[in-house]
Amino acid sequence: MKYTFRVLRFDPTRDRDPRFQDYVYEPRGKTTVLEALMDIRNEQDYDLSFRYSCREGVCGSCGLVINGRFDLGCRTMLDTLDSDTVVLEPLPNLEVKKDLVVDMAPFWKALQEVEPFLFPADEAPEREHRVEDRQMEKIDQFVSCILCACCYGACPVVARDGSYLGPAALAKLNRFVRDPRDRRPFRSWAKVDTEGGVWGCDTVFRCNEACPREVRPADGIQALRRAMTWNKIKRMFKRER
Ligand code: SF4
Ligand code: SF4
Ligand code: FES
Repeated sequence: MKYTFRVLRFDPTRDRDPRFQDYVYEPRGKTTVLEALMDIRNEQDYDLSFRYSCREGVCGSCGLVINGRFDLGCRTMLDTLDSDTVVLEPLPNLEVKKDLVVDMAPFWKALQEVEPFLFPADEAPEREHRVEDRQMEKIDQFVSCILCACCYGACPVVARDGSYLGPAALAKLNRFVRDPRDRRPFRSWAKVDTEGGVWGCDTVFRCNEACPREVRPADGIQALRRAMTWNKIKRMFKRER
């Protein structure tokens, strides 16, 4: 079976506008979208640019829009697509550097702002941090995030407001705030008590639909909102006493 790969091409150093380019491709067996792209680049057009690393759904480098749906190129099998035309576009909401490669800088900046790491307790445990399974169950979903930025590309708030931190960064913050080992002070995560943070989300759940790892980042934003409100109430009562 032959497929037509219709790929968005754009080189800002050379082109005025993006354009679609077609490639006819015949897979030699079970093939992913990423493998097909690699074959097309090796055999038909060495100028075609796309990003990948692990090739097995772990590194998060190959997020794309495939026939209008957000997914990882390396985990999308050609025979699962319902058309023999495969339209490939770069992630929206991020500037195109070339073809399917986008500039991830705003995504990384948002992530950096939430300080996505554990704030340890003052005293280190004698041997190791022990965490109950049931405590980890609450955050497992968010730990699965591979930072592919599909949710960021799908979010309508990011599209209209570049200062919004976006679903992945906020869900990642929720992952740490709810980790029983994390001792971050409230002031550190109160930074997202803003329209550019948790209150900016329109709760239209596009991010949940787009996520290839079923992280459901909007659930994390909701949880963060609840934790934020609860924390503020507790602090208010403490002050009044
Ligand atoms: S639920 Fe919130 S973060 Fe997710 S896509 Fe919608 S507006 Fe963006
Ligand atoms: S939440 Fe899902 S879509 Fe967003 S960066 Fe993480 S893995 Fe990708
Ligand atoms: S290449 Fe690593 S997730 Fe696809």
